[in-house]
Amino acid sequence: VNTSLAATRPHRSKQISDAVAAAPDILDLTVGEPSYRPPVQLLETVAELTAERPEEPSARYNRYAHVRGASELRDAIAGWYACAHGLDIDPESEILVTHGAAEAIWLTVFTLTDPGDEIILPDPCYMLYEPITSSLGRIPVRVPTRAEDGFALDPAAVERAAGPRTRLLIVNSPANPTGAVTERALLGALVATAAEHGFHLLHDEVFDCFAYGAEHVPALALPGGGETVVLANSFSKRFGMTGWRLGWLVGPPALVAEAVKAHTFVTLGVATLIQQAAATALADPQVEREVAVHAKRMRARGLRLLADLSPLGFSCPAPPRGGFYLFARADELAERLDPRDGSRSEAVASFLLQEARVAVVPGPAFGPAGEGYVRFSYAAPQHVVDLAVRRMAAVLRPARGARARG
Ligand SMILES: Cc1ncc(COP(=O)(O)O)c(C=O)c1O
Repeated sequence: VNTSLAATRPHRSKQISDAVAAAPDILDLTVGEPSYRPPVQLLETVAELTAERPEEPSARYNRYAHVRGASELRDAIAGWYACAHGLDIDPESEILVTHGAAEAIWLTVFTLTDPGDEIILPDPCYMLYEPITSSLGRIPVRVPTRAEDGFALDPAAVERAAGPRTRLLIVNSPANPTGAVTERALLGALVATAAEHGFHLLHDEVFDCFAYGAEHVPALALPGGGETVVLANSFSKRFGMTGWRLGWLVGPPALVAEAVKAHTFVTLGVATLIQQAAATALADPQVEREVAVHAKRMRARGLRLLADLSPLGFSCPAPPRGGFYLFARADELAERLDPRDGSRSEAVASFLLQEARVAVVPGPAFGPAGEGYVRFSYAAPQHVVDLAVRRMAAVLRPARGARARG
C-alpha cells in the first residue's frame, strides 16, 4: 500500500462520532452538524425536478454534470460572491464545484504541491489538514497559536516557519476548533507574507456565515489575493446539509484547470440534482436571510453553553467569535483525574464519555497545542446541548446536578 497513507492515522473525530452513533444513549457533541434543515426552496427544487414527467425520459439530473460543476451553480456562486463581497469571479475558469469543502482542500493540497513540499498549518487547526498533508507525502509545519492571543496566527511566526519548500499556508476563519475570526488586517498581512515568499494561501471559509459580531472577509478580497489565494467553501454548514456533500473551490484559472483534472480522475463530477437544487437556493435572497437567523441562534447557543460550562470548571479565554464550537480548557477536571502519563484532554474526554455519556473531542486531535483542551460542538439541537450540560453537571457537581435534574 501507499506508505504515506498507511502511516497516517484515521480521522479522530469521525472515529468517535461513528462509534457514538452505535450507542444511542450517548449525547454527541463532537460533530459540527447544524440541527436545522436545508432551505425549503432547495428541497422543493429536488421535488420538482424528480416529479415524474413521462415526456422527459432523460431529465438532466440523471446525467453527468459539467465536470467543473453545473453552470447554473457556478453562476450562482459567482453571483453570491459579487453580492456579498464585491468580488468579480469568473464562473467559467475560477470555480470548481466539489464534494464538500473537504474535497476542495484535498484538491488544493494535491494540485499545488509535490511530495516533500511543506505546508504551514496553524496549531491547533481543523483536523483534516494534517492527514491530507501527510497522506500525500507532503510535510506539515505547525505554527502554534495561543488562547491569550485569541488563537490568532502571527505573520512573523509564519515567516519564520517558511522555507524554500513551503508551498502553502492554510488559514481557517471563522475557525474550527477555536471559534477565532481572523481580522481583515491580519488576514491581509498573511496574504502579503504568502505572496512575498511565493507560496499560496488556502482560506477555508466554510463558517463564513457564522461570524459573530466580527467581519468575515474572504482572503481573495485582500490586496494581492488574486494570484495567491484559494478559497474552499461549502453548503454543509450554511444550509444544514452536511450529508449532501456539496462545496466549491475558487482559485486562479491555472490552478483550477489542474484541480479539474484531479477532480475528474477521482469523481467525474458532483451529483447533478444536488447542484441544480443548491443553485436555486443560493440565488434566493430569502434563503440568505434565513441563514442569518440560523447564525444568530447559533451565536446565542454558543454563549449559553459557555455560561453553562464555566461553573463546571471549563474555561474559554473569550466567547466564540464564529463557528459552532467551544474550545475549552478543562484544568480543574484534568487535575482531579490526574493522568500521570497520558493526555489530560483524553482523560477528560473519556471521563465525560464514561460518566456523563457525553462525547466531545480531545484537543490534541487538532494539534499538539490543543493539549489541555476539549472541543464541544453546539450545533446539536438546543435540548440535546442542554441535556448534555445537565448530565455533565450531575457528575461534576453532584449536588448542583441533582438540583438541575429535578
Ligand atoms: C473547518 C472545516 N473545513 C471543512 C470542513 C468540511 O466541510 P464539508 O462538509 O463541506 O466537506 C469542515 C467540517 O466540519 C470544517 O469544520
